[in-house]
Amino acid sequence: MNVTARIRVWDLPTRIFHWSLAGLVAFSFVTGKIGDPWMSWHLRSGYGILTLLAFRIAWGFAGGRTARFSHFLRGPRIALEYAREALSGRYHPFAGHNPLGGWMVVVMLAALLVQACTGLFADDEIATQGPLAVKVSNAFVSRMSAWHSFNEWLVVGLATVHVAAIALYRWKLRARLAGPMVHGWVPVPPGENWPQPAMGHTGLALALLAFAAAMAYVLVVVYPAT
Ligand code: HEM
Repeated sequence: MNVTARIRVWDLPTRIFHWSLAGLVAFSFVTGKIGDPWMSWHLRSGYGILTLLAFRIAWGFAGGRTARFSHFLRGPRIALEYAREALSGRYHPFAGHNPLGGWMVVVMLAALLVQACTGLFADDEIATQGPLAVKVSNAFVSRMSAWHSFNEWLVVGLATVHVAAIALYRWKLRARLAGPMVHGWVPVPPGENWPQPAMGHTGLALALLAFAAAMAYVLVVVYPAT
């Protein structure tokens, strides 16, 4: 077993995914609020988010050990027990997402997927229409537009809780979580033996990303034109 003083906990594709997603979510929010003439960029940004989410779902099965859903999705009892310990100030570091953070990741990915998918059918009744709005009924377009507007605030709320939780970990529990999402490394706590988790293959990540982008292109460009 290879035990070192620090291990790489997030592979490069997961880190690039994270910061690209955070950037595009912020960009989509701002361009959506400004409206025209930025709505064409709002749509492009949404297609980028859709591509990233499709990639991340595939990476959750084929990526590095800590990026896999099977690694960070634990039962509700374990997550609640972890929350109780963290609230009482006892912090046990994890090589990867902790049991509560793992569920937060899935909830964030689901909310972002709802946001990107409803946007495909939305219509702002000014000058911007999602690429699939022409393929469905007006009633469905109205419903998806309403969901897109409502879910936007759910995404903002979740992102706020996410960033606030990371700040709280830093100040209350003295745990640095943001740095490892940048450089990938975490120190192994004294007295613990953490083996280096397997990292994902960057070549495979590029292939999955290209496939996700091709699927998004078919969905938003080829299919609406048929
Ligand atoms: C200053 C802003 C942000 C910081 C410092 C930050 C930091 C982090 C950190 C440290 C993790 C890993 C948590 C852990 O150790 O378990 C993480 C995961 C994650 N964050 Fe953020 N985050 C930020 C903004 C955002 C935004 C705006 C979004 C999207 C709404 C987002 C979505 C996610 C997702 C989906 C994951 C899971 C990553 C994965 O497993 O692929 N983050 N973030």
